[in-house]
Amino acid sequence: MEVRKHIPDYPLTTEGSPVAVGAKPRHRLPKPVVAFTFAWTRWAVESRGWRYEVWNEPPDTELDNVRFLAGGRRDWLISPELLQELRRSAGTSSAHSDRPIVRLSRRTGGRHSAFMTVGFSGEVAEYYAKFRRAYPEQALDFLQDYFSLTPEDSVLDLGCGTGQLALPLAHRVRSVIGMDPEPDMLHLAREAAGERGVRNATWVLGADTDIPALGTLLGHASSLAMTVVGQALHWMRHDELFRDLLPLFRAGGGIAVIANGAPLWLQDTAWSRALRTCLEQHFETELTASCGTADQDRIRYAQALEDAGFSDVRSTTVSYTDELTFQQVIGGLYSAIPAERLPGPDQRPAFEDNIRKAVPHAEPFPEQVHVSVLVGRTA
Ligand SMILES: C[S@@+](CC[C@H](N)C(=O)[O-])C[C@H]1O[C@@H](n2cnc3c(N)ncnc32)[C@H](O)[C@@H]1O
Repeated sequence: MEVRKHIPDYPLTTEGSPVAVGAKPRHRLPKPVVAFTFAWTRWAVESRGWRYEVWNEPPDTELDNVRFLAGGRRDWLISPELLQELRRSAGTSSAHSDRPIVRLSRRTGGRHSAFMTVGFSGEVAEYYAKFRRAYPEQALDFLQDYFSLTPEDSVLDLGCGTGQLALPLAHRVRSVIGMDPEPDMLHLAREAAGERGVRNATWVLGADTDIPALGTLLGHASSLAMTVVGQALHWMRHDELFRDLLPLFRAGGGIAVIANGAPLWLQDTAWSRALRTCLEQHFETELTASCGTADQDRIRYAQALEDAGFSDVRSTTVSYTDELTFQQVIGGLYSAIPAERLPGPDQRPAFEDNIRKAVPHAEPFPEQVHVSVLVGRTA
């Protein structure tokens, strides 16, 4: 007799019998191996007189509403005008309306674009181009080895910003597509490409939800060697994105999700903690969002890559120590504040003065940067 093992995800006690729960994304339920495992687990559980239930994610609309409402905890991500507009169109001006919020439109290009100001525009884009950390060469070497990149390959940098990944990658492959929903970021990426003599990059205005259209443009050919997403996946619907990208890769091609260190205000140093306290007071909100850089984010993304059908999913970290001047701390900070919350030019001296008084150390400010690279590829 063959011995099979499967551990259900949750054991629940109820007033009646115990309940064992198996959890799986809805789209995986029809897969023969999943259906088979759940069928014999149900048989095994129910034959003891217990109940067995299979749970999956709530309907998309409900999930979108919950995500949107969760965003409300970070009020600096919400455009007050849009919120006002929503309340008006819902027929109420009450801040405590219990009416359901409309489904986020997929036609807007990105999950957040209708309701949340991603905010990388205007001066923020300029600060981004000037002050954001570049990626260490070892991280790019790792990508080159893992995906066996050659000068014949094409790669996509999704959420390319001002080209932090697209530009150095361009030297290693035939062509790079830099895609981003923020025109100001793209404009500066294109400008930087011109300055650095990069001529094999194409800059495309678009978001994660435009990947199926990009697939059509590429003729649904398996033509991409790699898609990199640097510091941007937390803005995207990563499950759908991974599934949409899968057919676009050549054999051995795949996805790299890269986190370029922790945000300046979430690091384990006295100056970073002081910076955070100062910012939380200024913006009157808790700053806890890890922007996809925390361990639990990486675990979630790794699982999603496997669920979407990518194999050999693994992660590597490149660490180094840096030292920042006060101006670099401020520039990095301004590159991360949504444009409409950026202190105006006349308020900046007082804002910066506040921070200078709050941070305990004199320059330079030491920073331990951990660049984590999560990859998965097609068989
Ligand atoms: C923090 S920046 C990262 C830029 C660059 N990849 C890097 O590693 O420094 C995040 C970028 O993601 C872009 N973005 C936001 N929502 C997006 C979406 N739904 N799809 C694609 N890019 C998005 C933003 O416009 C912004 O340029």
